Amino acid sequence: MSATHDRGPTGRMRLLTLAFLLSLPAAGCRQQMSDQPYYRPLEGSEFFADGRASRPLENGVVHRAQYLDTDPLATGLTPDEWARVFARQGNASKAPDLATPTPIENREAAVTLPRYDQRAAGNPKVYVEGFPFAITSEDLDRGQERYTIYCAVCHGALGNGQGKIWERGYLVPTSFHTSMVSPHEVPAKNAPASPLGYSRGYALWDIKIPMREVPVGYYFEVITKGYGGMPSYSAQIAPADRWRIIAYVRALQYSQHATDLPPALADKVNAAGNGAATDTKKAGGHP
Ligand code: HEC
Repeated sequence: MSATHDRGPTGRMRLLTLAFLLSLPAAGCRQQMSDQPYYRPLEGSEFFADGRASRPLENGVVHRAQYLDTDPLATGLTPDEWARVFARQGNASKAPDLATPTPIENREAAVTLPRYDQRAAGNPKVYVEGFPFAITSEDLDRGQERYTIYCAVCHGALGNGQGKIWERGYLVPTSFHTSMVSPHEVPAKNAPASPLGYSRGYALWDIKIPMREVPVGYYFEVITKGYGGMPSYSAQIAPADRWRIIAYVRALQYSQHATDLPPALADKVNAAGNGAATDTKKAGGHP
């Protein structure tokens, strides 16, 4: 070590004194606020009768950026279905106030309650049939991206229920189309109650309906809560993105069943020989 780098005992002493002096003001000015008493999460307390330091949320608390449960954007349900949920909970006289959040106990009951029977007189509407916000082409792009990430593994990129997971032995998911859309598609062994492309959930209500006619609110509920062999995706996909995915599924369905194409375009599509041609003719679309 050269002499120029060695500060020697006096030099080191000076450095230490300087460091000590610098540390003094910080310690001296330490705010009392940083030493206040506080409770850790789940810590007990003698102050409250229930012995818990953390207080339960008041009814009606709205979290930041939380959607109201009565908002179709968060549920896919019609206001009528909410009214029926309320009625079944013994509040028949009280119409639900759609502008205030649902009390937590009503909300939990609503999740587990079976949906109103849609075959009842007047065919009551349970699920919303329109998107809760206008879908732009950016929304469709995002929907395609999210669909490819979260749904295609099982439902396949074409939406025919033949994704990679199915190839490896998983229960074959419901196809979104009523005809096979790929020459390599393996015909699924579906129950007679729900043939190819028909909703299995609706079949439980004895309603035979192709997936392309199932209201969008039902898709929202399936993504949110899961259905049969399909798990819930509510933790992974925010509500607005669920709607964008549904918009993309609608686009996929339209790609195979465009019954209202101008005749010239329909001929071109038919000449290309994909599923749209067959479905267009079957559905009595343009000749
Ligand atoms: C892990 C595989 C898997 C993933 C991922 C998955 N699904 Fe499913 N899905 C299924 C299966 C399996 C069924 C059929 C369930 C049954 O019949 O019990 C199904 C059924 C459905 C149904 C129809 C229910 C009916 O009435 O027939 C819809 C709609 C649906 N899925 C949408 C989606 C969407 C949208 C996504 C992406 C957010 C998605 N699924 C992701 C496996 C999956």
